[in-house]
Amino acid sequence: MDKLIVRGGIRLKGEVDISGAKNAALPIMTASVLASGESTISRIPDLKDVMTMGRLLANLGAGFHYESGKTIINTEKIDSFEAPYDLVKTMRASVLVLGPLLARLGKARVSLPGGCAIGARPINLHLMGLEKMGAKIELESGYVIATAERLRAASIYFDIPTVTGTENLMMAASLAKGTTVLENAAREPEVTDLANALISMGAKIKGAGESVIEIEGVDELKPLDYSIIPDRIETGTFMTIAGITGGDITIKGCRPEHLDAPIMKLKEAGLIFENVHGGVRVLGPSRPGARDVKTMPYPGFPTDMQAQFMALMSIAQGTSIISETIFENRFMHVAELRRMGADITIEGGTATVKGVQELKGAPVMATDLRASASLIVAALGAEGETVISRLYHLDRGYEHMEEKLKKLGAVVERIKE
Ligand code: EPZ
Repeated sequence: MDKLIVRGGIRLKGEVDISGAKNAALPIMTASVLASGESTISRIPDLKDVMTMGRLLANLGAGFHYESGKTIINTEKIDSFEAPYDLVKTMRASVLVLGPLLARLGKARVSLPGGCAIGARPINLHLMGLEKMGAKIELESGYVIATAERLRAASIYFDIPTVTGTENLMMAASLAKGTTVLENAAREPEVTDLANALISMGAKIKGAGESVIEIEGVDELKPLDYSIIPDRIETGTFMTIAGITGGDITIKGCRPEHLDAPIMKLKEAGLIFENVHGGVRVLGPSRPGARDVKTMPYPGFPTDMQAQFMALMSIAQGTSIISETIFENRFMHVAELRRMGADITIEGGTATVKGVQELKGAPVMATDLRASASLIVAALGAEGETVISRLYHLDRGYEHMEEKLKKLGAVVERIKE
């Protein structure tokens, strides 16, 4: 397992180019299953999760090719409907093949994802929606077996605005008979990007990005030729890096309007933002001020930015209260930040972060994707050297992170093990 050695205390300066959004790439890749033919999707980041999704699609019989930011997926011969446990257990987003397979083949056998580090993350809302659309759902030895002659339209209310649940059902409804209404739908930009991709295939979708989405089913969709949105969480991560290093970073190819809540909080904490052509310039203060945050579904403060923001707050002037309302166990980075001298106490879903003057470099361990990002943020602002182990977590969701950091003047080195 690779490690990353990070020398802290350097003011990072320069430009960084943001990659395509992991959480748009994954659903849009599965959307290719809805049509028969060759789909081309651009701005696809070179990530472990993308390659896992490629393997999963190949497992279904699709042709999968990836080359410098572009993926070509040929779905003429989708001849299997199974997403096996060994693939699903490494990437929960595999569940996104459920809707497309049911819509395309009328059958799907998808391993239940099982829990993951940050929480139980059930898929009951996905299954509830598909059942309402006429699918027969059975659970057998850890697999979901779903069958449907032809899915029919339904009105579906989500108790919780689930991102991949909304995406699964939007894809299933695109080929169903009649008009499906999704209520209390997730509003994330990646949901909207998937809707736009489906519309480019001939789907009829209204309201994506709002809480009520209407999908009028069509008989056939055509292959994709689509370029996805930039990654707003990678963008936000570099903003917190500018904040903690007192840096001056111009983030290119990003969509700041996808980050209203985090940008507002970061401005209140003392970071300065300047719009520049094709991106945003972020100036970090000598020391940020403490701010409270509560994670919420979009357009609230994203749970995927909670760990990175906490790293920044760990050296802030004052005390911050950070509440995690989306996942029940998304504080595993706290123990590692404490090893670096952070003063954080946890009470249920709330962390109290008392800002300290400075963190100290230390050997730490990544536990999940965004925790690994938060340890990088902390290490860049700390005094001395930090060694971050289990780097495979980072490689799931950040493309060429070391190269991007080195270009900003960071002293980082990956130790391959
Ligand atoms: C998506 O996960 C993202 N992943 C996650 O990003 C992100 O943290 C999450 O949305 C929340 O924004 C992808 O898009 C591939 P949810 P998802 O369904 O769809 C509960 C990252 O770091 N729930 O919106 O799995 C669930 O337990 C990853 O890139 C049910 O109870 O999240 C959670 O508490 C991590 N039943 C809440 O809803 C269901 O059927 C939100 O989960 C579905 C969800």
